[in-house]
Amino acid sequence: AQPQPWSQRFEQALHPAIARFNASIGFDIRLIEYDLTGSQAHAKMLAKTGIISPAEAETLIQGLEQIRQEYRDGQFSPGIEAEDVHFAVERRLTELVGDVGKKLHTARSRNDQVGTDIRLYLRSEIDQILQQLRQWQRTLLDLAESHVETLIPGYTHLQRAQPLSLAHHLLAYVEMAERDIERLRQIRERVNVSPLGAGALAGTTFPIDRHYTAELLGFREPYRNSLDAVSDRDFAIEFLCAASLIMVHLSRLSEEIILWASEEFAFIKLSDSCATGSSIMPQKKNPDVPELVRGKTGRVFGHLQALLVIMKGLPLAYNKDLQEDKEALFDAVDTVRACLEAMTILMGEGVVFQPERLAAAVDQDFANATDVADYLASKGVPFREAYHLVGQVVKTCLAQGKFLKDLSLEEWQALHPAFAADIYERIAPQQVVAARNSYGGTGFDQVRQALAAARDRLNDF
Ligand code: ARG
Repeated sequence: AQPQPWSQRFEQALHPAIARFNASIGFDIRLIEYDLTGSQAHAKMLAKTGIISPAEAETLIQGLEQIRQEYRDGQFSPGIEAEDVHFAVERRLTELVGDVGKKLHTARSRNDQVGTDIRLYLRSEIDQILQQLRQWQRTLLDLAESHVETLIPGYTHLQRAQPLSLAHHLLAYVEMAERDIERLRQIRERVNVSPLGAGALAGTTFPIDRHYTAELLGFREPYRNSLDAVSDRDFAIEFLCAASLIMVHLSRLSEEIILWASEEFAFIKLSDSCATGSSIMPQKKNPDVPELVRGKTGRVFGHLQALLVIMKGLPLAYNKDLQEDKEALFDAVDTVRACLEAMTILMGEGVVFQPERLAAAVDQDFANATDVADYLASKGVPFREAYHLVGQVVKTCLAQGKFLKDLSLEEWQALHPAFAADIYERIAPQQVVAARNSYGGTGFDQVRQALAAARDRLNDF
């Protein structure tokens, strides 16, 4: 049996299995540096408001700093007797500085304390993820810049539709990352609000200064309502939503890479540094990185779902259920960061596009059929009529094992007198792509402008 960290109301020790069940120290030790920083701000505020003396505050702040050092040196590893990181720090502080350590928890509760810690943690991780997203965009942009004139089939229903500049395809993922960045920045604003000083739920009888601690910790402002402050996990759910969407984006590209690396597509080869082999089939080279990213997407969605369900039936204010928010957040953060890192390496050096295969895929194909219809429409044939006519031509070609480019000028003109010799140029893949010069289209001029604009956004960061 363990000694109790809480009050004299308790006579018996906790059952050891219950102590283990209850404890969060196994995972919330990860918050220790934020807990120390939050406590230092609290101590400073207690002195500023005259609740403790400046000398006492100084002792507390130094003691907390010493714990930080011990932790960094690997000398501080509390066990489950501490229950959680907050009790562990307070206990160690009292060992280090004596009775004055017992003053730290004046005008504070673990409820506002843990809320403060988790927000400081998440704010810092969001900043790291934002950097990683920028690096991710940079890598995609570098690749896109070298593939403006490389063509790739564009698909709808996974059927070849119209050819694209490969850069245009990659830029679509740069745009997704841009929205991810925007979303995270907005969420950061709502993460960055201070619950400290809300107390257990109702505020405190001491003349504390919540604006001061908020300012010391870099928060935008204190929560306006103490009950809301200790019960709110909206910011964590919002973060898990944003993390889920980042994973959706990485997972969709992963799926494409897996397809492209198959013998059926063979649009890319994977470099040895980013692929794995089989234990039995010597010929195999497997795309484990994108497969893992696609698979790990499920866990992040799971954490989002878990936290939504945890919250939906919780009466105000703090309930121990909230302790479950931490592992969900930690694992989502770790997963997103690891996936961003791996995918950035994969797109930086792991994916080698195969220009011949890509060229053949856009050449030996009917992806220029729309352009034949557009050709007639631009000569005054109503589009729907032109569309039906080209459908017939495609059918005839399929029956004869030909492509549109194989038709003779006589054959074209027999179909419709509006066809002239320039039809061949108009249906050549490069021209098919170049011609789609509407704003946001795959035309090379549009793509070059989009690349330059994306570069500018990166440089602004
Ligand atoms: N370990 C707890 C958590 O993670 C800290 C807050 C505990 N508060 C309480 N009243 N039991 O949520």
